[in-house]
Amino acid sequence: MERPRYRAAIVGTGGIANRHAQSLAELGDRAELVAVAELDPDRAAAFAERHSVPAVYGGAEALFANERLDLVHVCTPPKAHAPLAIAAMRAGVPALVEKPTALSLSEMDELAKVQEATGTPVLTVFQHRYGAAAVRLRRLLRAGALGRPLLAVCETLWYRDDDYFAAPWRGSWDAEGGGPTMGHGIHQFDLLLSVLGPWAEVRAAAGRLSRPTDTEDVSMALARFANGSLATVVNSVVSPRETSRLRFDFEHATVEVEHLYGYTDEHWRFTPAPGHGHLAELWAADAAAPPSGHRLQIEAILDAFEAGTEAGVSLADARRTLEFAAATYASAFRGRPVAAGEIAGDDPFARGMDGGAVPWAQSRKEAIA
Ligand SMILES: NC(=O)c1ccc[n+]([C@@H]2O[C@H](COP(=O)([O-])OP(=O)(O)OC[C@H]3O[C@@H](n4cnc5c(N)ncnc54)[C@H](O)[C@@H]3O)[C@@H](O)[C@H]2O)c1
Repeated sequence: MERPRYRAAIVGTGGIANRHAQSLAELGDRAELVAVAELDPDRAAAFAERHSVPAVYGGAEALFANERLDLVHVCTPPKAHAPLAIAAMRAGVPALVEKPTALSLSEMDELAKVQEATGTPVLTVFQHRYGAAAVRLRRLLRAGALGRPLLAVCETLWYRDDDYFAAPWRGSWDAEGGGPTMGHGIHQFDLLLSVLGPWAEVRAAAGRLSRPTDTEDVSMALARFANGSLATVVNSVVSPRETSRLRFDFEHATVEVEHLYGYTDEHWRFTPAPGHGHLAELWAADAAAPPSGHRLQIEAILDAFEAGTEAGVSLADARRTLEFAAATYASAFRGRPVAAGEIAGDDPFARGMDGGAVPWAQSRKEAIA
């Protein structure tokens, strides 16, 4: 039977859009990038030329009015994610939205309502869930081979200089939604959550230690999970020796990965507990496994479309990750633990990640004045 060829478009042709276009190209006959929509005409034209895209639009409205699409990739700064995802759902086009899906839990709930009403899904890019080793780890854990998860350490120690924050949307609560918690470490703790399952409680601290931002540049959280396990989560953009590190201690093995922006099997290390040496065979690294990245996630989405199964990362799953970010901020700024489900309704931290309670906001306003 001939496989369908999916018609995809990209909205927002900045940095990360190139990764989406390359991934679609690598999928060969399975997908075709038929159009882009971008506010900056020069950028759009250069992108279309670079990736041989036949149609260019000045905005999403014209894109949806003129193209028959199977998938739209939303690659704009975070502030535009929710409005564009809503426009996509209303046009009947599934949207794959870059992280973070939305600026707040309220926006996530609005997206869920429209998804329910239209029956058209919104998916979030969390590409590190899809690397071969992460898939294997979840499979072995669910099969009971590793025993109970006991503790985890999750560190995103990255370095972004002041120039990086010159882009007007970066480092602002209004446009980016948060600092490294929302924009950088979210990749790692999303992977952590995909392995450990629902979190129950978060205690956190956050600071703006060095960068010219409104948001935090460092946050640290201590989390308890519904299964009883404990984890620390560190998110930083002020760390000169950059690394992305995750370590899980299960009853029967330690499983670790250290990489930067993507991993292969070679970045992972598996250490069985005494008496559990046979587990190393189950882990058996695959040197040919492709690196974690956008292509694997997009491929998994097309597989799900074809099979009629639920594609990921679903809105419900992405909300759990965004709620972890909201709890990190709420705990840090309120100075007390935050339970899962606690940030709801009119809670200021449901409406915005800053919760109107950023301790350094006033001193920054005074410094700028
Ligand atoms: N998954 C990852 O590994 C990863 C890596 C980097 C960035 N990102 C995410 O990707 C998103 C974009 O980041 P970037 O660095 O590519 O940003 P960017 O500033 O380089 O590009 C964004 C583009 O979107 C355009 N744009 C803005 N609003 C628009 C609208 N309403 N309609 C059409 N075009 C619009 C801008 O003109 C710009 O060209 C962010 O959410 C970021 O967090 C993800």
